[in-house]
Amino acid sequence: MKTNNSVILEQLPLGPMNNFTYLIGDAADRNVGVVDPGWDPENIINYCRAQNYVIAAILLTHGHYDHVNGVPQLLKQCSVPVYLSKYEPEYYRPECGDIRFVDDREEIRIGGLKILCLHTPGHSPGSQCFLAGGLLLSGDTLFINGCGRCDLPGGDARKMYASLYEVILKLPATTLIYPGHDYGEAGSATLEDQRKTNPYLQCRSREEFLTGLMA
Ligand SMILES: [Fe+2]
Repeated sequence: MKTNNSVILEQLPLGPMNNFTYLIGDAADRNVGVVDPGWDPENIINYCRAQNYVIAAILLTHGHYDHVNGVPQLLKQCSVPVYLSKYEPEYYRPECGDIRFVDDREEIRIGGLKILCLHTPGHSPGSQCFLAGGLLLSGDTLFINGCGRCDLPGGDARKMYASLYEVILKLPATTLIYPGHDYGEAGSATLEDQRKTNPYLQCRSREEFLTGLMA
């Protein structure tokens, strides 16, 4: 899947929990970041080899096991930095030594591609989305016609409301959403479409969100 001429984006459905792992990078140099390698790292490595992609980094939207399971195995095969939100390790810390902790609005470079980290707590304290070239890898914060659960340790429905309404909905309507799980009828959608069809983006107030949807 190539969304335009300059950005590589590959959506890989892997594992038993409908996860999506993504490869995102610069088409000019074919360096890619592996986003949320939860399952089947051999498959990810073989796919990159076949496509001539160079794995340059691992990016984690959050630390839940179904998003990070494959990190140790991946690191055995390629020595690359692992990026995780600085707000996550108190609750969820992946099994790997060298983690680079990033803050809200920090930029990660994968070859020639700049990726902006957006801190979007709610599903977990250090959940983050990755924005690059009009694409938003939304992890378990925003699904197609759904949003992440907030009842796991470190979850917070009030913070989820702020992440959805004050961060994600402030992005351009043309932004393409790529979620962390394949729970919807489609693997991606524009933010404009989600504003119309996703019930979690329809609330008129925080109270309506908390009492109507998250109660
Ligand atoms: Fe999760």
